[in-house]
Amino acid sequence: MTIPLIDLQAQYATIRNEVRAAVDRVFDTQQFVLSSEVQALEAELARYSQARFAIGCASGSDALLLALMSCGIGEGDEVITTPFSFFATASAIARVGARPVFVDIDARTYTIEPERIEQAITSQTKAIMPVHIYGQCADMDALIAIANRHGLALIEDAAQAIGAEDRGRRAGSMGTIGCFSFYPSKNLGGAGDGGMLVTNDPDHAQRLQMLRVHGEEKKYHHQLLGINSRLDALQAVVLRVKFPHLEAWTRERQRRAHQYEIMFTDAGLRQKVEPPLVRNDGRHVFHQYVIRVPEGQRDHLREYLRANGILADVYYPVPLHLQESFAYLGHHEGDFPVAEAAAKETLALPVYPELTDQQQDFVVSKVVAGLK
Ligand SMILES: Cc1ncc(COP(=O)(O)O)c(C=O)c1O
Repeated sequence: MTIPLIDLQAQYATIRNEVRAAVDRVFDTQQFVLSSEVQALEAELARYSQARFAIGCASGSDALLLALMSCGIGEGDEVITTPFSFFATASAIARVGARPVFVDIDARTYTIEPERIEQAITSQTKAIMPVHIYGQCADMDALIAIANRHGLALIEDAAQAIGAEDRGRRAGSMGTIGCFSFYPSKNLGGAGDGGMLVTNDPDHAQRLQMLRVHGEEKKYHHQLLGINSRLDALQAVVLRVKFPHLEAWTRERQRRAHQYEIMFTDAGLRQKVEPPLVRNDGRHVFHQYVIRVPEGQRDHLREYLRANGILADVYYPVPLHLQESFAYLGHHEGDFPVAEAAAKETLALPVYPELTDQQQDFVVSKVVAGLK
């Protein structure tokens, strides 16, 4: 038995006919770029995310870049973010010419630690970019208070967190701009790359719509220096077929996550495996189900699971401040010890909606055997 981290073939089997009909629809119209399908998806996701505006773009990475551009961030500016995320979070900051300033994370939620932020703020700081990692929101009340106190933009990297909530508010809608990814393995994944920005600010909405098409409002008249980052109609129709299932899929992820916790307790594993901390004032959408295993045992357990067909994986093995491409920032091992420990001790287990009871039993039995 092979159990992947996400089974997109199993998902496709449930929506195959709808997807193929939708793809045919696009070919029949030959409207491939942006189009009314993209506009319809934007309207659906704005509503879903409790935001006034949604702007489709080519990827989650581009969404972060466009958000920074819309906030006017560039050379000489600093943006505070987490060292424990996918590379795109910090590379977007560097790509606009600004400096990523890392602040360590909370040891249980893996999101940026608000209490450490103010000591990192300088006269160059322009924004805070929290990441709702694994599908759980950062502590947005604290972040909003800091951003307001210091006049900073707040850009939510919600790539992993569509539908997540913090005290009743949806991911992406709480800051200045929120960014989503439709990479195929995301909770709402396309058939390739895609992304979306959401905002409640009409000025940002208008600017983002221009920035994604080389800064033009009227064809061939370029008021801003933008980029080419449009969402394709083919992606939009695939996403629109999947979107009505998102809530049910999210509930299945949550049910599986809850089940894991019960099964670990029943198996007497709670001393050896720390299940994820789920904030009781939020909604965790479990993009990943990440357990914590004491240092030294994690790599052994991962290899043991993989040898048994369970494709458990590590997100992320190298914190951003220790990435080679950020060597110029001058960081060393020990600078952000909480993130560094998380990189050594976390392990993602399969949690996708189509996971069966039998598969989950198998995963837990192998975690038990692997930690003996
Ligand atoms: C936290 C985070 N930020 C940004 C991205 C970038 O998104 P994309 O792969 O769509 O460019 C991803 C996912 O890949 C992500 O997980």
